[in-house]
This record gives sequence, C-alpha cells and structure tokens, in this order.
Amino acid sequence: MTSKTLALDGPAGSGKSSVGRAVAQSLGWVMLDTGAMYRAVTWAVLEARIDLTDPVAISLEAANTTIRITTDPRNFSISANGHEITSAIRSPEVTAAVSAVSAVPDVRELLVKLQREAVAASDFGIVIEGRDIGTVVLPDSALKVFLTASPEARARRRSLEVDPNADAENIADTRLAIMARDAKDSEREHSPLKPATDSQILDTSELTLDQVVDQLVQMAHHAYP
Ligand code: DC
Repeated sequence: MTSKTLALDGPAGSGKSSVGRAVAQSLGWVMLDTGAMYRAVTWAVLEARIDLTDPVAISLEAANTTIRITTDPRNFSISANGHEITSAIRSPEVTAAVSAVSAVPDVRELLVKLQREAVAASDFGIVIEGRDIGTVVLPDSALKVFLTASPEARARRRSLEVDPNADAENIADTRLAIMARDAKDSEREHSPLKPATDSQILDTSELTLDQVVDQLVQMAHHAYP
C-alpha cells in the first residue's frame, strides 16, 4: 500500500483531470478519476431508466453495478457491468444527471469505499481527483490541493475540450451549465464541494497546464522527500 497520495479537488473545468494525469505521469504515479466513477453509476442509472428523484432505486442500481476503472495515467478506460463506457460517461445526458446521482448518500458511501480500496491496493503513489478527496476520502493525505479558476476560464477550457471550434455563444452556455453544476455540488448536504481546511488552494485561471503541473510536482517532492 502506498503512503504517497495527492488529494486533488476542485470544481468542473478547473483542470483537475488533465493536471492530475500529467502530474501522475511526471512522478511515475497512478491516478484515479473519481468523477468518472460517479458518471459510470449515472450511466447505469440512465440505462435502467430509473427516476432521478428516487434515491432508493438509485442506490440499488449503484449496488448492482460493477465498475472497473484503470489507474494508468496514460491509458484511461472505465466499464460498468462489462459495458465499455469510456466515452459514454462524457455525454450531455450523463453530465446533466450526475449531480442528482452523486448527491445520494448511499452512492457516495459505496464509491468512497471503492476509492479507498483502490488507494490501499496501489503500490505506487496515487493522484486521486474529485470533489471530496481531501475532506472525506483521504482526510489524512499529507498533500491536498484544491484547484480553482474563474468561471470564464473554466467554461473556455471545457468548451474547447468538447469542440476545438467552440464560439463565444458555446462558451457562454457552458459557463451557465458549469455554474449550475457547481451550485448543486457545493450546496448538497453530503460531502459538498469545498476545500479541506488544510488544502493548498491554487488558482489556475492565468496559468498554463505546464505551470500548474510544475507547481504540483514540486509540492509532491516537498511533501514526500
Ligand atoms: O469531475 P467530473 O465533472 O467528471 O465529475 C462529475 C460529477 O461527479 C460532479 O458533478 C460531481 C460528482 N463528483 C462528486 O460528487 N464527488 C467526487 N469525488 C467526484 C465527482
């Protein structure tokens, strides 16, 4: 089991996934994308046509869903009950429903357990990224970073990720969608999106990916000399 963990939290579009992957590669660590796990359960819930306002049915579906997720930062894939859903989890339908599913306490409990098991099973250092890693999943991590960025910067990044030709109107729509999801993720009763008291907060609005990665690699060397 590894003792080297980077708990990387932040809102949608803060750059966590790209940063986490690059930091893990640079350090020779693995990386766990916990948002993808909430998306996988959401995909299964949508496939089963479950009512998103029925937490009991959602929890049951989550308990019956077997998720397999890779932690190789160079080669990400995820499946649910044997279905390969690496691209499907990024669909607008899943994105629109994921906040409702991830607000269900039983779903969180189940996934937090799987996340801790993945950390325990890892022989390498691990970057684990999400919303509640520093506060709930790994409260004892020696390195916790909360990435932020202005809503404008985040909307621009997300839009260009989805469509390299995104225009101002696409970016404005993405900004509204991101802000709505942030509000739901921050205001939910269980494990809301918020920095741990001992997180280092890094605003990435004006930084390039490489600059953010360099800073985090340095922080990791400092935390784990
Ligand atoms: O990082 P992402 O956009 O793929 O995350 C999808 C959703 O999952 C996000 O809206 C909130 C939820 N999530 C969560 O509640 N806790 C986590 N640790 C990771 C993601």
